Amino acid sequence: MSGIGQRKDDHLALCAQGDVGFRRASTLLECVRLVHDALPELSLSDVDTSITLFGKTLKAPLVIASMTGGTEEAGRINRELATIAEERGYGFGLGSQRAMHVRPESSSTYRVRELAPRTLVLGNVGVVQARSMATGEVRTLLEDVGADGVCVHLNPAMEIVQSGGDRDFSLGLSTIARLVSELGIPVMVKETGCGIAPSVGRRLLGAGVRHVDVSGAGGTSWVGVETKRAAAAGDEQARHLGDALWDWGMPTGACVALLAPLGFETIVATGGIGTGLDVARALALGANAAGIARPVLRALSAGGRQGAMKFLDSVETELRAAMLLTGSSDVRSLRHAPHVVVGELGAWMTQLGREDRDRK
Ligand SMILES: Cc1cc2nc3c(=O)[nH]c(=O)nc-3n(C[C@H](O)[C@H](O)[C@H](O)COP(=O)(O)O)c2cc1C
Repeated sequence: MSGIGQRKDDHLALCAQGDVGFRRASTLLECVRLVHDALPELSLSDVDTSITLFGKTLKAPLVIASMTGGTEEAGRINRELATIAEERGYGFGLGSQRAMHVRPESSSTYRVRELAPRTLVLGNVGVVQARSMATGEVRTLLEDVGADGVCVHLNPAMEIVQSGGDRDFSLGLSTIARLVSELGIPVMVKETGCGIAPSVGRRLLGAGVRHVDVSGAGGTSWVGVETKRAAAAGDEQARHLGDALWDWGMPTGACVALLAPLGFETIVATGGIGTGLDVARALALGANAAGIARPVLRALSAGGRQGAMKFLDSVETELRAAMLLTGSSDVRSLRHAPHVVVGELGAWMTQLGREDRDRK
């Protein structure tokens, strides 16, 4: 197997079975207290969880977040998850299409369109790879899989811990600006577990970006994943750096709360979303949808298709309950649901929010 293929399979195995969550940091979504409505005047069956994202209707505000592609195992997982997304009406993100670019023979492991004809399918490229690709080459990768939009992922923390990973992150913003102006399909800038701060959000808006997936801290630590790989390979220097940075990043809840007022068209809250209550809290803070990666993979790995469906059922059931109990008949009203912010999330909002006010 090629180096990139081996890395993809290592990532899948570590995320499905390994202990790679954040250690002490959380999403801070637990600091959002939704205000109970004792008189919701709604029937549970009337709660409408549908949204429109990139012109497609989703039955629930959920995206199975970008994970994989490039190996046989990755192809099997993509097909399984894409058919679940089709059946349930979720969005579906493909993993980085770098492997497909380097080894076009692996393209079939990304092709899910026939199995998921109605699904919102998002392609995926890393900003560092896109920097050295012509826009036409990126477009070809996306057309090949019938993508409705593309996630351009940012992952500097993971790369600097990865043995042999990227070290040069220059020209990222101009690469993104070029893709936004030339690609002709929606571009969503996406982190991979360390979050997007409001200062970065402002730079992205200046480059023409309208859509972000915060992929914040509190769920899967990609520094953690690479630390485990470094330890297994005996790379002591990388392991040491990875242990120090394991919990690096801005919590998902703080990213959403601080990006919400900036004027993006779409904010997807990924990173540590494990329950329907997490989804409800992220939406009340201003997200349009929530993304889930590793918890879906773990449920699939432990219980097969039924296991993944059962996990997603519980997320939807909790979300519906939270909507009823906040008197929210639809997602639009959930996004305005009264809530109180307590604890550390309040500190992030006050201190970085103040930075915003000082700039005005
Ligand atoms: C096995 C696996 C592979 C991933 N590969 C990619 C990828 O290729 N591109 C990307 O943008 N994000 C990738 N991610 C990151 C997720 O999309 C997500 O941002 C991150 O894991 C945080 O979400 P979580 O806490 O729900 O796992 C991957 C996640 C997992 C679990």
